[in-house]
Amino acid sequence: MELFVVFILFGLLSFAFAGIDGVHWTYSEGALDQIHWAEEYPACGGRKQSPIDIQRRHVRHNPNMLELELTGYGEMTNGNFFMINNGHTVQINLPPTMMITKGLADRYTAVQMHLHWGGMNLEASGSEHTVDGIRYIAELHVVHYNSDKYKNFDEAKDKPNGLAVLAFFYEYGHFENTYYSDFISNLRKVRYTGQSMNISRLNVRSMLPENLSHFFRYDGSLTTPPCFESTVWTVFDTPITLSQNQIRILESTLMDMENKTLWNDYRIAQPLNERVVESSFFQGNFLIRKL
Ligand SMILES: *[C@@H]1O[C@H](CO)[C@@H](O)[C@H](O)[C@H]1NC(C)=O
Ligand SMILES: *[C@@H]1O[C@H](CO)[C@@H](O)[C@H](O)[C@H]1NC(C)=O
Ligand SMILES: *[C@@H]1O[C@H](CO)[C@@H](O)[C@H](O)[C@H]1NC(C)=O
Ligand SMILES: [Zn+2]
Repeated sequence: MELFVVFILFGLLSFAFAGIDGVHWTYSEGALDQIHWAEEYPACGGRKQSPIDIQRRHVRHNPNMLELELTGYGEMTNGNFFMINNGHTVQINLPPTMMITKGLADRYTAVQMHLHWGGMNLEASGSEHTVDGIRYIAELHVVHYNSDKYKNFDEAKDKPNGLAVLAFFYEYGHFENTYYSDFISNLRKVRYTGQSMNISRLNVRSMLPENLSHFFRYDGSLTTPPCFESTVWTVFDTPITLSQNQIRILESTLMDMENKTLWNDYRIAQPLNERVVESSFFQGNFLIRKL
């Protein structure tokens, strides 16, 4: 029964992630690696793509950008939160009670969260956004849709300002981050592509940095096909810390669609073109660094 369910899921996923000619998109292998995404998914070749390299010297301080108000992000018990290895990442579906209620022009409702990581060889980092060319160890994306303007994610996903993604970097800390213990130990239960489980307790707020006042903002896209240019990005400057052991488990547990270890699931930085990255804080030390 379980195998049958996995098989059906895998079938659905294969359908969802296959290109027109049935080829799966990948990050770095095969005919539809990231260099070739635009051939099947034209938006991937657009001028407002994500991720980007954030260059601190070129960021514009915008004191009018207020800290986001995150509603319903705290402890949830007796829930039924779907967690799946979709062959590209691990994704947890989030309930519509989680919302961004202040800080953006509209109200945005949470849909899902997932991670990007490295690990292909020792010391390989895997964040999608980079800062001054430096790649962090990993990156968390919390995806929301504009629920003031649209009925659901599908309706919003290809519209301007249809989506809002919050991005957080990970770095090594000296201690185990106990707010990640359940998440990390659940990974082996969704080891293979298409495997899923339901988690009953979730506290997303505790998985984020305490202080959310320092962030960057710019207009970009989904970082995976179909790469729609619909996303207002908020990239937080303060990283989340995980222990070496937690990072090692994150990087080595999941298997991709070909049953190979799923690693380096990140897209490389895209051209900024005419866009400007704004920051909520003053980059006070760049003058000093220049001297
Ligand atoms: C998860 O919960 C859904 C109902 O929300 C159920 O249909 C599904 O079978 C559950 N999956 C697992 C793996 O328990
Ligand atoms: C967050 O950090 C900033 C900069 O370090 C500081 O000014 C602010 O007071 C902090 N906020 C909280 C709630 O700790
Ligand atoms: C992946 O490999 C495992 C262990 O060898 C096997 O049980 C599983 O069926 C394989 N899954 C796929 C999708 O090939
Ligand atoms: Zn992502």
